Amino acid sequence: MVDLTVNGKTYHVDADPDTPLLWVLREWVGLTGTKYGCGIAQCGACTVHVDGVAIRSCVTPLSLAAGRQITTIEGLARDGNLHPVQKAWLDHDVPQCGYCQSGMIMAVAALLREKPKPIDADIDSTITNICRCGTFQQVRAAIHAAATA
Ligand code: FES
Ligand code: FES
Repeated sequence: MVDLTVNGKTYHVDADPDTPLLWVLREWVGLTGTKYGCGIAQCGACTVHVDGVAIRSCVTPLSLAAGRQITTIEGLARDGNLHPVQKAWLDHDVPQCGYCQSGMIMAVAALLREKPKPIDADIDSTITNICRCGTFQQVRAAIHAAATA
């Protein structure tokens, strides 16, 4: 049994410690906003925060997440208020099919926490998430908007 704290709530998870955090979040905890894309740390669809840092949950074992603060897309808004990144995403109509977007938003939220006013080079080097709908220009515009919000 592993104690996992997700979005401020503790769950007692009866899963193998080697189970990828992504599957624990989706199958044990029941939070399906975090998506499976590639399973090999390439696409970023599975991005969540561990102690405020963006990680790819498809390759992060449950054992590494135990005892730390996990935040998923479901926990990004606070007290009914959208996170500035979520607001910017709506203002710029970023999502198309939407599949990559929860991971994209989590990656950007972590970037802005680390670097509140990123330049394009910061965005290019940090936001390596893949969007098959090609929303990259809207993503860039929304990041700059969120940074000035
Ligand atoms: S599903 Fe984790 S990086 Fe693609
Ligand atoms: S919005 Fe469709 S994959 Fe990114």
